[in-house]
Amino acid sequence: MDKLIINGQKKLFGEVSISGAKNAAVAVLPAAIMADDICIIDNLPSIEDITSLFNTFEKMGIKCEFLDKHTLKIDSRNLENVSATYDEVKKIRASYYLLGALLGRFKKAEVSMPGGCNFGSRPIDLHLKGFKALGAEVTVTEDAVKLSAEKLTGATIYMDQVSVGATINVMLAACLAEGTTIIENAAKEPHVVDTANFLNIMGANIKGAGTDVIRITGVEKLHGAEYTIIPDQIEAGTYMIAAAITGGDVVVKNIIPKHMDSLSAKLDEMNVTIEEGDDSIRVISDKPLKNVNVKTMSYPGFPTDLQPQMAALLTVCMGENIITENVWDNRYQYVDQLKKLGADVSIDGRIAKIQGVKKLTGNSVSATDLRAGAAMIIAGLAAEGVTEISNVKYIDRGYEDVEHKFKSLGADIKRVKVD
Ligand code: UD1
Repeated sequence: MDKLIINGQKKLFGEVSISGAKNAAVAVLPAAIMADDICIIDNLPSIEDITSLFNTFEKMGIKCEFLDKHTLKIDSRNLENVSATYDEVKKIRASYYLLGALLGRFKKAEVSMPGGCNFGSRPIDLHLKGFKALGAEVTVTEDAVKLSAEKLTGATIYMDQVSVGATINVMLAACLAEGTTIIENAAKEPHVVDTANFLNIMGANIKGAGTDVIRITGVEKLHGAEYTIIPDQIEAGTYMIAAAITGGDVVVKNIIPKHMDSLSAKLDEMNVTIEEGDDSIRVISDKPLKNVNVKTMSYPGFPTDLQPQMAALLTVCMGENIITENVWDNRYQYVDQLKKLGADVSIDGRIAKIQGVKKLTGNSVSATDLRAGAAMIIAGLAAEGVTEISNVKYIDRGYEDVEHKFKSLGADIKRVKVD
């Protein structure tokens, strides 16, 4: 069990390079096994969620080889196993993409119930509704989902709620269905577009990804392809917020600035200077921060996955700040940890009221989930004295080389092993 120890109040300066997007990678890798062929995926983040998927693939009998730290060769030519019910599968939320991928290729699948961060109820009813509409029979047992179909037939599917996972999962299966599938009220997140782009390179026919109507015309088979994953919007946002809270001057490199629009606009409103380059954003925080309201929404709205990090920043913005969490029903479990550092936060359902305080003070806190862990780092960087963060395993699920990247920006942060 590792801990991160941060000696706070060091301004961050310099450049940080952003890794490949976790939420794109965990969808693109299952997409890759839909081809009876070889795929090479580049710019994969070196994080625990990818290790869990790699281990799952190996157990399923897929030949995988890392060509370097970020490039994986996936050979699923001999794949016959349509069942993924291993411990690794239960560790990550995105293992549900194996359902759509296997259903598309083999017309059957059995996958353990997905795990991942716990922020309230995380149903997959929309995924299952989509598979049923394509003609699959769905059986849900206590710990697994089974799908089977004689054949898959295109259908028009209206998503009752905008869901990244359901949009991508139905898109995967529909690529190899007969006829045309139309997903209405589809999610527009960058990782939906990235997965569609990869599938199209594999021979799929997907139009409209990135809008709220996606049209998929089924093809008979997909072929191997090489693909580079997009940069991680949430990792980039985490470093932008860290620069802002420390009064720093940081260039966040290797990103798609457009993906950061909702955060850039909010930081600008707070008095932080944002300078956009072609594939970078410079964040200069040299003025007092102004209090703001933040509402999370599906893309292009403010991402829920940056809500805890933003909350950490708002703890030191004088005046009243209000966050409304519109995506998840229980995403404030980390607030008790922020309070240990001296934050003044009260929660009422989906609303967090944050009264800015002059300073945070170091203490022992826990990463209660992946992005909550990132919020603890951000708060720790601003706090006076030493902050100890336990449960770093959650942070490692989604942030590559986290302490090295922060250290290179001048943070006083180290990882220690604890029995
Ligand atoms: C993905 C991201 C996660 C992010 C979330 C919202 C991955 C691997 N994870 O999760 O980091 O927080 O998008 O941006 O990409 N819902 C249903 N029924 C369903 C599916 C979802 O009611 O079948 C609801 C959820 O409870 C939630 C909302 O829809 O309230 C959005 O969830 P969704 O977009 O599906 O999240 P994930 O794809 O699981």
